[in-house]
Order: sequence, then structure tokens, then C-alpha cells
Amino acid sequence: MNQAVDTSVEFAGLRLANPVFTASGTCGYADELADFLDINQLGGFITISITVKPRKGHATPRIVETDAGMLNAIGLANVGLEKFIEEKLPILTKLTVPVFVNLAGETISEYVTVAQRLANEPSIAGFELNISCPNVERGGITFGTDPAQVTEITSAVKKAVGEKVLMVKLSPTVTDISVIARAAVEAGADALSMINTFTAMAIDIETRKPILANKTGGLSGPAIKPIAVYLINKVYKEVTRNRGITILGMGGIRTASDAIEFIIAGASAVAVGTASFIEPGCAIKIIEGIKRYCVRKGITNVKELIGSLEDW
Ligand SMILES: Cc1cc2nc3c(=O)[nH]c(=O)nc-3n(C[C@H](O)[C@H](O)[C@H](O)COP(=O)(O)O)c2cc1C
Repeated sequence: MNQAVDTSVEFAGLRLANPVFTASGTCGYADELADFLDINQLGGFITISITVKPRKGHATPRIVETDAGMLNAIGLANVGLEKFIEEKLPILTKLTVPVFVNLAGETISEYVTVAQRLANEPSIAGFELNISCPNVERGGITFGTDPAQVTEITSAVKKAVGEKVLMVKLSPTVTDISVIARAAVEAGADALSMINTFTAMAIDIETRKPILANKTGGLSGPAIKPIAVYLINKVYKEVTRNRGITILGMGGIRTASDAIEFIIAGASAVAVGTASFIEPGCAIKIIEGIKRYCVRKGITNVKELIGSLEDW
């Protein structure tokens, strides 16, 4: 049991100490979970979506638990770019793990404004382009469902981020996710992050009204996990494997076994979202569990697992 396991992975040219992130929007700006989770033990950290102007988000209720998951319609609530730079960036600067800022906006120029303003920040390793949020009227998922718009926004933001890593976050709510993935990669994405939530609804049968004030929300949690695994494996085989593009996998990961499934499917790293609401420290337990699995299987290097699915 003393076998050493190298948990490091290559991620879009960065070396991560291990393949586990927390997912955007589920750990805020890193300070919220500090009492429960040592962020510096993760492979990397991703902020909540940042927009040019502050956003209050949608009215409550904006979260509802469903079978094996939850619906959220937060509506990209965030402090806005200026306050992010003043108040949140100093917290993130102290982290020793690679930090990614998640970008959102209603127009391409809003995304570009946030990216340009932060592109020269030494404490930021890269950006996650959120073109897949199902909970906003303007922008959000509309950018991520049309390949022509994916090309336009990815190339504009890629120019704005300079040398920093650009990861594009894909929506599962499309006919063929490989078409969208290919558009993002050909327009300059260094990595793909997948998947965002599924548009969904829950109804209160007493009032016959939707439970969420926004009526619809994004479904996350274990309910979406097998779909995420399938979509990641599809994009890995059809788009990224031969192009040296890395995938950050997410969607219902709760345990080390879940994370390992995603890695075998083709993800180079994974992010834990909804599960952190139940057990804030679970990302760290997942890293330990991945190590134990490797020891049990005689694997000395986690990298060996990436895309190792035995179906071809
Ligand atoms: C409460 C909540 C807030 C979220 N906020 C964001 C966000 O600001 N930006 C974003 O790109 N994704 C956001 N997401 C999506 C997650 O990052 C992730 O893609 C999705 O929830 C699937 O992973 P999970 O099932 O592990 O939660 C949010 C998800 C939840 C549950």
C-alpha cells in the first residue's frame, strides 16, 4: 500500500498537481468554503461567472431539490468586474493552485471587456467561457447552441485573453455536441469544459405553478452523470483526442468512482459542483479516493487513465 501515485495531469499546457477542481458557481470566489475545504489541495479553482456589471440574479426561490439532483436559476448573480478586481482578486491571488475566471455576458463585447481587463493578471491561469448558462434571457446558452456564434465568441475572447488558457464551457442541450465542440476548438479553445446544466422544470401540484420564480432552471447532480459521461466520451473520440485538446469533465460527480469514470471517458480533469452543497469537503476526498483506486489497480500515474476506455 506504500506505492507512490503521481496524481499530476497536463491541462492545456498547465501542470496540475491533481485532476480535481470545484465547478463554477458552486464555490463562489473561493472564500465561502474556506472553513470546509483547503482550496490549495485542489488541482485548480474556477470562479463563479463574472459579468461587466454586478447582477443580483433571479428572484427566489432559485434553487429546488429534485430526485437525484437540483434545479438552479441563480441568474449569474455576481459582484461585477470592478468589485471582483477590488475585493475578490486579492483572495484568489493568495491561492497556490491555478485559478480560472468564468466569463459571462449578454453580448460578445461584454465577454471581451471582462477578459481584456483580467488577461494581464499574473494570478489568473486562464478563463472558462460560459456560453451555456440556461438561466438568463440574453446571452448565456444562446451563444453556445449555434456553431457560428460559438466561432465568433471564442475567437473574440481568445484574442482578448492573450497567452492565458481559454476553456469553453459547453451546453448539453444541443443536437450534436461534437459540432459545437469542433467550432470552439477550431476558433482557438485550448480546453473544453463540459457539461453545464440541462434546462428543466419542477411544478408545485398544489398551486400548479413552477417552483422556481424563474419558472425553469438548470438540472445538475447525479441525475445528469451518465449523460455527461457519454457526451465527454463522444467529444473525446470525435473532436479532442487527436488534437491535443483537454477536457474538464463535470456533471453529478460525488465520489472518486464517479471522477474516475469521467477520466476513463476522456476527461483530463474533473470538477465537483452540486455535491459540494451536501459535503463541502468532498473534492478532497475524491483526490484521496483516486489515489486509492490507482494503488489497488497498480497504476503509478493518473495520466494513464485518461481516455483509457476499452471500447475500441
Ligand atoms: C448553484 C449553481 C450555480 C452555478 N453557477 C454557475 C456559474 O456561475 N457559471 C457556470 O459556468 N456554471 C455554473 N453552474 C454549473 C456548474 O458549474 C456545473 O457545470 C453543473 O452544475 C454540473 O456539475 P454538477 O452536477 O457537479 O453540479 C452552477 C451550478 C449550480 C448547481
